[in-house]
Amino acid sequence: MKTLNLSTIYESVQEDLDKVEEMLRLMSQESVLGLSDLLEYSLESSGKRIRPFLTLLAGKFYDYNLDNLLPMATAVEVMHTATLVHDDAIDNSLVRRGKPTVNKLWGKKKAVLLGDYLFAEAGALTASTNNLRAIKLFAETLKIISSGELNQAHHAFSLEQTRQQYFQRVAQKTAALFSMATETGAVLSQAPEKSIQILIEYGCNLGIAFQIVDDILDFIGTEEELGKPVASDLIQGTLTLPSILILERYPDDNPVKRLFQNGNSEAEVMQAIELVSDSSIIEECYEIASAFCSKGCRNLGQLPDSDSGQPLIDLADYVTRRRK
Ligand code: IPE
Ligand code: IPE
Ligand code: MG
Ligand code: MG
Repeated sequence: MKTLNLSTIYESVQEDLDKVEEMLRLMSQESVLGLSDLLEYSLESSGKRIRPFLTLLAGKFYDYNLDNLLPMATAVEVMHTATLVHDDAIDNSLVRRGKPTVNKLWGKKKAVLLGDYLFAEAGALTASTNNLRAIKLFAETLKIISSGELNQAHHAFSLEQTRQQYFQRVAQKTAALFSMATETGAVLSQAPEKSIQILIEYGCNLGIAFQIVDDILDFIGTEEELGKPVASDLIQGTLTLPSILILERYPDDNPVKRLFQNGNSEAEVMQAIELVSDSSIIEECYEIASAFCSKGCRNLGQLPDSDSGQPLIDLADYVTRRRK
């Protein structure tokens, strides 16, 4: 099966995604003393826009009401942007979407304040739907994402982490926002609870698969493809699925263990990358990611007939094959 590109997958809602882009552009032109340049820089249209796509598409199965779906789709992208701005400041990361990060150009203090501002914008957009479930979900999701990032920081350079703990953390830091995107789309289009749950299950599992692939690409991708630094998880002391599989497979001695115990060394990072590349570890990680995708898609057939089922399946396929 040929993997479709994102613009083909987005086709059925492209017109409305363009409206989200326009809302982001308008927001980026708000005049905020000391933040205007940063707002424009961070909201510029260079991300993949997967999360707003999910909200719009999840809204397609029932009453596709743009008055609420557009601000909500914009809200999830603004919230995502805020998490990236904060994540890069926390990680001291210097490149994102092929450009210098906000913290690199303006420093960490400004990055923290921009992130806060964007979270508030996302909250205001969510509140503009007047939907209490969406508003509560916004607050809950922000708590869950923060818990995931805190959990990651807490376990930096710790070798005592299981696959289950990793899946749990990834569910928090990444999948919570994916499932917020699909849940709000469903809720705002008056979907019945059973359908909402099917779309939550899809968003959650897709989000876990998405982060697993992000973690694989941190090992086997290039900065040029990804537009962000590679090998950064190992350097940050973040144990991800490929490193957990190294620890499981070579328990006595391995480059990840040496790196985490003895501090940062470029040689160990290179050895860890070689080790995963020369073994079947990457293949196994992809199989695990695909299994999450299949789980996410397993009940989509129960949703009413609409053009939306296929793009969700195509997106799941894209997620396991993407290179950026
Ligand atoms: C990056 O997300 C952060 C992760 C959850 C891995 P994306 O890969 O969706 O980032 P953009 O928006 O396309 O830059
Ligand atoms: C996702 O994790 C970050 C957030 C959920 C904010 P990563 O730390 O792997 O994301 P990248 O690789 O920096 O995009
Ligand atoms: Mg990061
Ligand atoms: Mg990453």
